[in-house]
Amino acid sequence: MKPTINILENRVSAALSRAAESEQPLEALLKPSTNPKFGDYQANGVMAAAKRAGQNPRELAAKVIEILDVSDICDEPEIAGPGFINFRLKKSYISSCLSQILNDRNGRLAVEPVENPQTVVVDYSGPNIAKEMHVGHLRSTILGDCICQILEFLGHKVLRQNHIGDWGTQFGMLCALLKRREKDSSGSNAEALGLSDLESFYKEAKKKFDSDPDFAAEARAAIAGLHSGDREWLGYWQEIVDESKKHYMQIYDMLSIGLKDSDARGESAYKDDLAAVVKELRDKGLAVESDGAVCVFPDGYKTKDSTPMPFIIQKSDGAFLYATTDLAAMKYRVSKLGAERIVYVTDARQKLHFEMLFDVAKSAGIAGEETELSHVTFGTMLGNDGKPFKTRSGDNVKLKDLLEEAVERAAKVVDEKNAGLEPQLKARIAAAVGIGAVKYSDYSNNRTTDYIFSFDKMLAMEGNTAPYMQYACARVKSIERKAAQKGFDTDKIIASIDKFHLEDDFELDLAKHLLTYSEAVSAASQDYRPNLLTGYLYELAQKFSGFYTNCPVLTASQESLASRLALCKLTEVTLEHGLKKILRIDVPEKM
Ligand code: ARG
Repeated sequence: MKPTINILENRVSAALSRAAESEQPLEALLKPSTNPKFGDYQANGVMAAAKRAGQNPRELAAKVIEILDVSDICDEPEIAGPGFINFRLKKSYISSCLSQILNDRNGRLAVEPVENPQTVVVDYSGPNIAKEMHVGHLRSTILGDCICQILEFLGHKVLRQNHIGDWGTQFGMLCALLKRREKDSSGSNAEALGLSDLESFYKEAKKKFDSDPDFAAEARAAIAGLHSGDREWLGYWQEIVDESKKHYMQIYDMLSIGLKDSDARGESAYKDDLAAVVKELRDKGLAVESDGAVCVFPDGYKTKDSTPMPFIIQKSDGAFLYATTDLAAMKYRVSKLGAERIVYVTDARQKLHFEMLFDVAKSAGIAGEETELSHVTFGTMLGNDGKPFKTRSGDNVKLKDLLEEAVERAAKVVDEKNAGLEPQLKARIAAAVGIGAVKYSDYSNNRTTDYIFSFDKMLAMEGNTAPYMQYACARVKSIERKAAQKGFDTDKIIASIDKFHLEDDFELDLAKHLLTYSEAVSAASQDYRPNLLTGYLYELAQKFSGFYTNCPVLTASQESLASRLALCKLTEVTLEHGLKKILRIDVPEKM
């Protein structure tokens, strides 16, 4: 089923091109109307077309309407203002679309797969090993996951890549400390070695490295050992990596994130490709030596003192960098994984890195002309004081602590709402609400702006929050339960519908909104903006609430009953699809 807006766009554009006698196709520029007074959609393209053709816009609009046939979809279109054309959907059209959605066995809710599916690599989360994940990684993890879900639902082949920071000089001191601890300690499990608290382990290693020359020498020996492939040192490294993986996999599990162990292909995976990348760029004449380092100077980038800005791929001591690894990773993704599009999800501070990376990769032919490279950035999560979110002592907040606190606080909210629930069920609901709140509040914020992380706000029962949405879902579901108690067989009644009764404004409003799910999903996919999807879902919950308050369902007249039950069903499946399938937020049966 094609989205209504696209059908109208095509037909009105064709009529407009003909009416203006234009050689080139003209665009009707259909938009949803902002005010219901003006119908459901409006065409904004007539004015520009008239100007170009030297015609009067209202006259041109009249000609368009004369040629245009949309009688299967809309009432007679109306001209408004300087030359807008307004369209109001016919009830019969709305009814037949709703029936199609209801009867679609694939449950696509009228969302068509894209015409040209691509192989898309989405690079997200990317925690740094040996440091626990903190809130900075939260946004990348959950935004990236939602992007994958949307692209996959639209029919793309999505390959998730977790570019973990598992290689680099810091591993020298970490391995050196682990070696010492294994020698000194009787036990060898992570607990005994202090590895289970990676943050302190890291701090301890750093302290020793700065204060103890013997230890620093050992750390340097470790780096050399790691680089030359020494089995013993690589063994220590692997232990640290494995322990770290346990931590972040646990977080993914809590957050219902679809990153598997096999999606992790970290910096270490490219360590043997780095020299070749540098050679390739040198051979191609793109990389040159500058102050002993090997650099590319892509066009148009200047430092503060207006000198060309280097993209450094090898330091003067021979070490490779984050940038070199990213070039090697891109090569792998394009040539081995067949990526036609690569989406990188990181905070906005890496903007320049990715701009330069994309430039260099394109000029080196590592990514082809047609390879789409996108950097999806996001703002900073702020504390109540408007400063970057930290603990009281100024440390990074650990993700695990944060999520646990969210669940604890959610338990209180659930208790206030429904004290009589049995403890196990309550705990399950609290987990869904707490984790859901953290995810949903992130999704519902415009990703590029900084936002204040507030438990109170995200756990509020009113407003565009997870608990409100989850409650709305539970409420729709309860209608079906009540119907069953009254002896109604909802599925059978719904199956008997041949036409929706959309007499009440609240019914009509809800019905129209249900038709535009595909528009919301597509809008959210365009510039990777989950907030356009949460906005749609919130509006749906609100419209449902209006409908439910004003249009009795179970006591409705014979002819309205089936139609209203079906509206409830469609609301339920749409809300659930958005929340559960796309955003992967759990929706409890009851709240
Ligand atoms: N580990 C990096 C960090 O914490 C994120 C990795 C992003 N992906 C990439 N291909 N550079 O900043």
